[in-house]
Amino acid sequence: MSITKESFGKTSDGQNVDLYTLTNSNGLKTKIITFGGYIISLQVPDRNGKFADIVLGYDTLEQYVNDSTYLGSLIGRFGNRVAKGKFTLNSIEYTLATNNGPNHLHGGIKGFNKVVWNAQPIDDPNRPGLKLTYLSKDGEEGFPGNLSCTVIYTLTNNNELKISYEATTDKATIVNLTSHGYFNLAGHNSGDILGHELMINADNYTPADETLIPTGQIAPVKGTNVDFTKSTAIGARIAKVTGGYDHNFVLNNKKGKLGLAARVCEPKTGRVMEIHTTEPGIQFYSGNFLDGSAKGKGAVYNKHNGFCLETQHFPDSPNKPNFPSVVLKPCEKYTHLTVHKFSVK
Ligand code: BGC
Repeated sequence: MSITKESFGKTSDGQNVDLYTLTNSNGLKTKIITFGGYIISLQVPDRNGKFADIVLGYDTLEQYVNDSTYLGSLIGRFGNRVAKGKFTLNSIEYTLATNNGPNHLHGGIKGFNKVVWNAQPIDDPNRPGLKLTYLSKDGEEGFPGNLSCTVIYTLTNNNELKISYEATTDKATIVNLTSHGYFNLAGHNSGDILGHELMINADNYTPADETLIPTGQIAPVKGTNVDFTKSTAIGARIAKVTGGYDHNFVLNNKKGKLGLAARVCEPKTGRVMEIHTTEPGIQFYSGNFLDGSAKGKGAVYNKHNGFCLETQHFPDSPNKPNFPSVVLKPCEKYTHLTVHKFSVK
């Protein structure tokens, strides 16, 4: 078990970027950079003990700086969409960048994926960890309040990658932090993920309009092509879903309690990833917009070559009073824990 640090280069404005490697007692290994908190590699074994890197990623800092797909980054302040980039809090209307058609997406032009985080290694013999902190200033990307954020990545000897998030503010604001890993459990360079079998622990989802803004309805998945209550190959019905999967699911878990969100199994290698979270929702995105322009680690990433399962509050929550609140007030603490547990079948 260890955590090691090396340089990953310098941003154009002269900030040093480091790469940390966390290794557990079973040989699982993950590499995280302080720019955007990107997970750039994650090595886990298959049913024969053979390790492969199961996250899509690039080779150089320059590629991460220019990345527009959030290929493994942290996301903030607000993951997913805010309709027309507008929300009102305490009678004040705030305007955010509209960087996804008419809407705001993933924190704006310079979201948490584009900043250098302060890092502190946690050299615990049983669970190496990396603590990242970032102070997002009042008004940054249009959001109110100085938001002080901490994200801790931990690799346990139970083969879990834990991501815990905390944030506090000095003015009422909105927060929705997540991690945007693109997984391919057969290995990042193994082509499409359509054969992966996916179960999502959600009886309901949030139907959305053509710009992916929820209608506000919480609808049953039963009888639809987004019913993953029973483990189903991602590719089984994808042709019937316009554009592919890009849906937010309403998890069956108890509010704020760590519960099972999803289980993915890759039949050829036997690799299984289970996701547990305290968040109320999860966005399942089937890599629809990968088009071969993202290339890294010797691979070219085409459509559906990776999938994302982003634990989160529901899209456009700031404008949907019936969705769980994303408002954070001074004196409160935002917390979110997501655990990725790896095993084999
Ligand atoms: C969104 C997709 C988007 C992707 C990468 C996902 O969270 O739901 O629509 O294309 O992130 O930008």
